[in-house]
Amino acid sequence: MNILAIESSCDDTSIAVLKKNNVLSNVISSQTIHSNFGGIVPELASRAHINNISSLTATSLKIAELDIESVNAIAVTSEPGLLGSLIVGSSFAKGLSLKYNLPLIPINHIEGHIYSGCLEDDSLEFPFISLVVSGGHTSLFLVESYTEYSIIGMTKDDAAGEAFDKIAKLMGLGYPGGPVIDRLAKEGNPTEYDFPRSMINSDDFDFSFSGLKTSVRYFIQKNFEFPLEEKNKQNLAASVQSAIVDVLIHKTYKAAKKHKVKNIVIGGGVSANSLLRKSFLDLESKGFKIVLPKMEYCIDNAAMIGFLAIKKIEHTSNKFKDLTFKVSSRPMRSK
Ligand code: KG4
Ligand code: ZN
Repeated sequence: MNILAIESSCDDTSIAVLKKNNVLSNVISSQTIHSNFGGIVPELASRAHINNISSLTATSLKIAELDIESVNAIAVTSEPGLLGSLIVGSSFAKGLSLKYNLPLIPINHIEGHIYSGCLEDDSLEFPFISLVVSGGHTSLFLVESYTEYSIIGMTKDDAAGEAFDKIAKLMGLGYPGGPVIDRLAKEGNPTEYDFPRSMINSDDFDFSFSGLKTSVRYFIQKNFEFPLEEKNKQNLAASVQSAIVDVLIHKTYKAAKKHKVKNIVIGGGVSANSLLRKSFLDLESKGFKIVLPKMEYCIDNAAMIGFLAIKKIEHTSNKFKDLTFKVSSRPMRSK
């Protein structure tokens, strides 16, 4: 079974080729144009996908040393994401499916992130807790199998990555802000400023990060002049990062304890954060198995889409011959 997988839900175009569970190629083209605008411009994202998608497909097949005639099925991200970006990927996939008479498997992008730990580590056993933490999502899932999972918590307002990006903007840093804050934080003192850890002690597994952003805004207005001094930037970055990571770790730990689950997986762009990765690994001393997929599988990538498509073929009787599915921008909600 050879799968060609297509991911274009946001600002990365990615094409992967998988043979069974093995990733033969996973090319990712990240769009840099948005950094000039302080955030993603949807129209520009769609155009960049259109420009990239055919040549990336050719490159991915070449790396995999396969031709399109050897592909048995196509997988594509159908939701959630930017509508225009999703339309580019799914229309391209539908075209290939029609031309080569191949089954087409629409995949939910967030489900792709949820199971990316299984792609990374095939010894990972169900059940596990999955924290998906990106620019658009911050959600906790209890995952029982490839066909069964439930959302046990999610952000009530901003996603964690959104908080990193918006706070970086308040500090006069570039976009995306997460990596810049991560880098500055390495030289700063995380206890210099005490920012709120919203909902850390609430009885649920939900998150809230918009209060942190507001608190940082007022703090900067009251205490600093622009441009910020380097030391202040470093201490602010370290203190903000520590506030965000504290909540993510605490809630994930509480969820794993409550559901008596020993395996924890993280995914999404924020899982690149060095403090978050280190703090999760520290939980291993409490008896948890922690799976931190390599960065290539944490950020938006087609390999996770292709992997989940293979699992759907294995675990359902669907023939995936329906090309009438629609893309959707709607974020995942509790069932
Ligand atoms: O999953 P992703 O590539 O795209 C989606 O949002 O779906 O995640 C992008 C997010 C951005 O908000 C970015 O600032 C954040 O991931 N991010 C980080 C780091 N690297 C990327 N946040 C904190 N620390 C990082 N090292
Ligand atoms: Zn994503």
